[in-house]
Amino acid sequence: MKTLFIGQNLIYLESVDSTNNYANELLRKNNVPEGTIVYTFNQLKGRGQRGNLWESKPNNNISLSLVLAPSFLLADKQYLLTKITSLAVTDLLSELLHFEPKLESIKIKWPNDIFINDCKIGGILIENTIRESYLQNSVVGIGININQTEFTFSDKATSLALIAKKQFNLKIIIEKLCSYFEARYLQLKANNIKNIDLEYLQRLYRLNSWNQFVSNEQLFEGRIIGVSDSGKLEVQINSGVVKLFDLKEIKFI
Ligand code: BTN
Repeated sequence: MKTLFIGQNLIYLESVDSTNNYANELLRKNNVPEGTIVYTFNQLKGRGQRGNLWESKPNNNISLSLVLAPSFLLADKQYLLTKITSLAVTDLLSELLHFEPKLESIKIKWPNDIFINDCKIGGILIENTIRESYLQNSVVGIGININQTEFTFSDKATSLALIAKKQFNLKIIIEKLCSYFEARYLQLKANNIKNIDLEYLQRLYRLNSWNQFVSNEQLFEGRIIGVSDSGKLEVQINSGVVKLFDLKEIKFI
């Protein structure tokens, strides 16, 4: 591992219900060095956002959780962790798909998804503990579809293998992800928020284009103009007014 601390302590599990559960348990019981990674190639009950299941065929994909101690970060800016994680995953995918003509199709779909060509290739689930308005620990869960080529549960899923038409070495991808994550985490620690926000926006799915959304059971036209540090989606409505939405308040059509 060519990193300073991310992935220096690697915990491999032959199978586990959820790497996030395992990492949370570790934190509850022990002192866990920052950068510890829990990973498996056989996650039995992966958890997604809003209580969804994250399904993954055994030995095909990566499922990992990274333990951080971001005590420098105010709790109301915790979405910055999602921003840098999304950037690290898209950095990784850009490298692995460098030969593809459609690099610009690798997108971050607010709030937690990574999309390629309008299909989901990865998801992020971050769980934080807070102490006196700062973050104490974070468990950053990342799932990326790598070698799986059939998805029975969703037709809107894709994988690296489906796009690149070849198989990938899972262990090498984990190492690369650690390096990209570390670089982004150091960028955050150095308080380089301006660049994080800029790059995040450049990769944001449906930025600036007029699209339909639903909120409060009402259909409306709007365009995404940004995402606040607290994680709210900033949407400009037809009338010119800008409204902020959180995860439960808006749906893409
Ligand atoms: C989502 O799509 O809503 C998020 C999916 C997050 C899946 C990852 S896989 C590793 C980690 N462990 C889990 O149980 N979930 C995350």
